[in-house]
Formats: sequence, structure tokens, C-alpha cells
Amino acid sequence: MGRSPKHRSTIMYLLFVCLGLFGTFLVADLFWASSSSYKSNWPTSPQLNPNLENLDHNASHKIGGVFENPKKEKPVRLLSATFADLPAPQLEWEKMATSPVPRLDGAALQINDLLFVFAGYGTIDLVHSHVDIYNFTDNTWGGRFDMPKEMAHSHLGMVTDGRYIYVVTGQYGPQCRGPTARNFVLDTQTKQWQDLPPLPVPRYAPATQLWRGRLHVMGGSKENRHTPGLEHWSLAVKDGKALEKEWRTEIPIPRGGPHRACVVANDRLYVIGGQEGDFMAKPGSPIFKCSRRNEVVYADVYMLDDEMKWKVLPPMPKPDSHIEFAWHIVNNSIVIVGGTTDKHPETKKMTLVGEVFQFQLDNLKWSVVGKLPFRVKTTLVGFWNGWLYFTSGQRDKGPDDPSPRKVIGEVWRTKLSL
Ligand SMILES: *[C@@H]1O[C@H](CO)[C@@H](O)[C@H](O)[C@H]1NC(C)=O
Ligand SMILES: *[C@@H]1O[C@H](CO)[C@@H](O)[C@H](O)[C@H]1NC(C)=O
Ligand SMILES: *[C@@H]1O[C@H](CO)[C@@H](O)[C@H](O)[C@H]1NC(C)=O
Repeated sequence: MGRSPKHRSTIMYLLFVCLGLFGTFLVADLFWASSSSYKSNWPTSPQLNPNLENLDHNASHKIGGVFENPKKEKPVRLLSATFADLPAPQLEWEKMATSPVPRLDGAALQINDLLFVFAGYGTIDLVHSHVDIYNFTDNTWGGRFDMPKEMAHSHLGMVTDGRYIYVVTGQYGPQCRGPTARNFVLDTQTKQWQDLPPLPVPRYAPATQLWRGRLHVMGGSKENRHTPGLEHWSLAVKDGKALEKEWRTEIPIPRGGPHRACVVANDRLYVIGGQEGDFMAKPGSPIFKCSRRNEVVYADVYMLDDEMKWKVLPPMPKPDSHIEFAWHIVNNSIVIVGGTTDKHPETKKMTLVGEVFQFQLDNLKWSVVGKLPFRVKTTLVGFWNGWLYFTSGQRDKGPDDPSPRKVIGEVWRTKLSL
């Protein structure tokens, strides 16, 4: 991986360009541009829980790596390569009907041929409080309806049992406001909303799934958006109703933090990728203006099974975050679309991911199955009739600049063949 001469020359070129730009650019991606005050006085890598069993202590070295110079030619400047695009087959992408609104950090769940798309930022100062529906059969948008006023507008935990959609916590309001503890359930047949018992404390972008009759919520960030939470709670639910009055405390997750994929397959619960740290409100800002803080992105995969102890599985091909609704289970594989990876080592810009990944659940092997039409984070994914779809999120500045720019409402699809 990453050692072919072609790939190396791409990296050298990138380095060259980046060195040229260094000094002109401070950390600035357009969407957050007015808010980037980059300070690294935040903890970069809190230690893992030392009591954890089965930890693959080598995982981060395997993926973090540096570029070696296998033939011992000229010395090459050593840099972490995880920000770079990975070699991937081309896929043929088709552009479909654009969503009624662009959205970033929204949520989406698929029920049969419908994709229910919730909330999200339209701009940093405007958040959506409604649902749009995409129909995969006739490839149209429609059926807009409102969310409850008290429901969070971004960074929600969300999961469906095939009729009811459980909505957990999330950020309330625009910019970098904190999360609410309020939870809701939607009956997608009647479009009626009901309350669920609130979380013990609010969380920002926690991993959320339904597993063995219980709604599980774990990780995410604490109220300040930045500090990783390790707590894990569950609540018995059935047909859109809580069967208990309070959340039960479960085994904490070894690493906390927001923006992970959380998947239940074959009666096991998987938590994939994500990060520690995120933008925070500028202290004293009346509008909770976003201010960039240090983030560390992970490739980690954790799994819970009968034993109810976290196990560590092989890591992703590169660190990947902002993938909470960017996955789908296809043929006993988890397919993950885009995300963000390590920041560029020199420009410090946020780096988006332009690949589609596959994790085979039978042999636990990761592969890169194709390239996206552009790099994109927090995109929302569906799968219907052999087509892999994605919509929404924030895309890159262009083929040569993987930092984030435009918030999109576009829908794209490709015929997937695994
Ligand atoms: C880490 O890698 C070394 C060398 O490849 C190996 O001997 C060791 O068993 C590995 N440790 C773990 C926990 O996988
Ligand atoms: C999606 O669209 C098709 C074609 O218009 C329609 O037959 C189908 O009922 C729609 N799906 C749902 C769940 O409304
Ligand atoms: C899933 O498996 C079936 C049966 O082997 C195959 O026909 C289909 O093409 C596969 N789907 C994808 C997306 O690869």
C-alpha cells in the first residue's frame, strides 16, 4: 500500500504543493473558515483503558505508518501517509435528483425503498428541523414533515427497527452549541412522534444501535463537544415504546468520541472508526461560534458479542471519522462511504476521504472497493436493488485539494458488485 512509484510521486507532488502553501494558509476550511482558531492545547490522545482485554496494541502502528524507502534510494522526508487517497478501482457514478435542501451532520435511515433524511446544518448558522424522504423506486424526493421542536438538529444518534425510528440526544441549535438529553421515537407509518426517557446526560454524536431488544447508546462527546465520553447505556424498547423508565448502565466503550459507524449484524454490535475531539464553542461567544480544536481520527473496530466484553477487530485501511450514517450492510459485509481522516501533516487542514470500504464479516477482512466521484464526509447512505446511494454531507475543494468545502444535497448512485 502506498509504495508504487506512481503513488510516491503523487505524495512528493502533494508535499511540494503543501510546502508552497504553508505560511499562506492557516487552518481554514471554507465552511468553518471564520471560526478556525487552531490551538493544540487539548489532549491529543487519551490513553486506552488499560484493563481492556484482547487489545491489538499494534493496530495504530500498522495504519499510522510512515513512508519507507524500500529500495534505499534518495532519502524521502518521512510523513504519516494516512491523509493520502488510497489506490481504488473506478466506479461509475450516476447523479440523481438533488435533495430539497443541502445538509451537513444530518441523519438518515432506510426502511425498504425509502430513505428518511433528518435535520442537519444548511449553513453554519442555520439548522433544519424537518424530514425529507427519498424513494429509491422512482428516485424522487417528497413527503417532507416536521421534527419536534425540542429535538436536536445535528449529531444525533438514530436507529430503526423497520417501522419505528429511535432518535437519541444530539446537538441542539446552530454553530457549536451543546447537545440535549431529549430522545424521541417516530412511527414512520403514522408520522407521529413520541417521547422516550432522556439520557442520564446529553451526548454529542454518540454511537447508537438496537441490539437484542435494547436501544444502546455509547461514546460520543460530552456537553462541550470535545471531551470523549466512554459511558454506555441501554433501554429496553419494543414497537416504539420504552419498556423501562430509566437507562441502564452498560460496559463502557474502550475509546470514546463522536462520528463513528455503529452496526448490528449477525447478533453482534460493531463500533467503527471515529475520533476524539471536535470543534468547540469559543469561550464567551454569545452565538457559540465554532472554534477548531485538536482532533485525532481512528481506524479502530470494536465488537460486542455474547460475552459482553469489548473485542478489538482488524482496523480500517485508514483512520476514518464522520461515518455515522455512511454505511450499509450488503451481502454480509459492512460497506462504508467516505468520511474524514488524519489532518494534513503540514497544512493541518481537515482531510476528506474519497473511498468506499468493505468489511467482510465472515473473515474480518477490509478492502477498498472503489472511488467516490469526490471526497465527502458525513454522507448519508442507502442501498436498493444493487445500487449504492449517497446524499448530503460536505465535499472536497477538488481533485487536488481534499479539504472540505461545499455542503451538498446531491444524490449519487453506483451499481455495486462486491
Ligand atoms: C505486535 O507485533 C509484533 C511484531 O510483529 C508481534 O510479535 C506481536 O505479537 C504483536 N502484538 C500484538 C498484541 O498483536
Ligand atoms: C416509491 O415509489 C413507487 C413508484 O412511484 C411507489 O410505487 C411506492 O409505493 C413508493 N414507496 C413508498 C414506500 O411509498
Ligand atoms: C450479493 O450476492 C449475490 C449472490 O451471490 C449476488 O448475486 C449479488 O451480486 C451480490 N451483491 C453485490 C452488491 O455484490
